[in-house]
Amino acid sequence: MDFNRQSLETWLRTEDPDALDHLYREADAVRRHHVGNAIHLRGLVEISNHCARRCAYCGLNVSNRGLSRYRMNADEIFGCVLKACELGYGTVVLQSGEDFGITREWMAALIRKIKEETPLALTLSLGERPYEDLLAWKQAGADRYLLRFETSNDELYRKIHPSLPGHRSDRMKILREISDLGYEVGSGVMIGIPGQSYASLAEDIATFRRLDLDMIGVGPYIRHPETDLAMRPRSRAIDPHDQVPNTETMTYKVIALTRLACPDANIPSTTALATVNASNGRELGLQRGANVVMPNLTPSQYRSSYEIYPNKACLFEAAEGCGVSLTDRIASIGREVGRGPGSRRAAGKRN
Ligand code: 5AD
Repeated sequence: MDFNRQSLETWLRTEDPDALDHLYREADAVRRHHVGNAIHLRGLVEISNHCARRCAYCGLNVSNRGLSRYRMNADEIFGCVLKACELGYGTVVLQSGEDFGITREWMAALIRKIKEETPLALTLSLGERPYEDLLAWKQAGADRYLLRFETSNDELYRKIHPSLPGHRSDRMKILREISDLGYEVGSGVMIGIPGQSYASLAEDIATFRRLDLDMIGVGPYIRHPETDLAMRPRSRAIDPHDQVPNTETMTYKVIALTRLACPDANIPSTTALATVNASNGRELGLQRGANVVMPNLTPSQYRSSYEIYPNKACLFEAAEGCGVSLTDRIASIGREVGRGPGSRRAAGKRN
């Protein structure tokens, strides 16, 4: 298959059920061949919902005054990390808004403790941080960093990511820094952002391949009322024929095409997908190219406040809830739970 923009765009526009069935089978076969039947579980801990930014899609944006803000302390976070160990996960992911109340030194100390006292791989997803922070956290022992670039279209990127004064937002630059520092690099996009064209989504997938990403997360854009995109919808309108819909099906297409374009990447079946299809979205993602699930381990008292979009899947489950029935769900689709950290680079694919 060709991974040029034109053929990717043709696939994204395809609605023929037989052709899509073929695409999904192909993606599933490539997934099996390159990363096997193991589904790696990464425990997600949403450590703070403070955010300095005004991203036009995200409910954590600083202008959202209706959100009660929290920042977990180190003991609370470490408790969740131990939970990930108990549940047999190989990786924990610490995620937050862009919160400069999370200081370089405080975070580095927490990273050192986690790496000294647990066998877990540690992934950070803390937004656009300065190089010195990324360096200190790598030196402290962090293994991976997630930062979605959200769209490769420069004009749309600028519209949805207002910069902080004096800091021009440039996620591509940060992705290069992360890679150069020796982190495994995760990125991805949202699907169906108002103003996102088919051509630009095709370019996003071509970009995943070009960046040789270790992890690629994609999920449907979900409207949050307390955001600029929801409050000023017309400011992003493009020709309706070009606008990508934020549908479940479009998400499967992108997962499948991403698997074909990046055969050995780790690709999660995301919470946003489980949100648009609660009954079996996650499973279908896993059968159409994905090989990772990120169960939510955030303590229940904070979970509803990490509202990047409304009605997030897992909201009402107990703290360990999402992980419990997961083994059964995984077995029901003929797969198994992965052991160990499930890193791409350790598999000998690179370096
Ligand atoms: N809908 C879907 N995904 C969203 N994210 C943020 N806001 C939304 C939304 N409204 C995604 C972004 C971000 C990730 C943590 O969550 O892609 O990188």
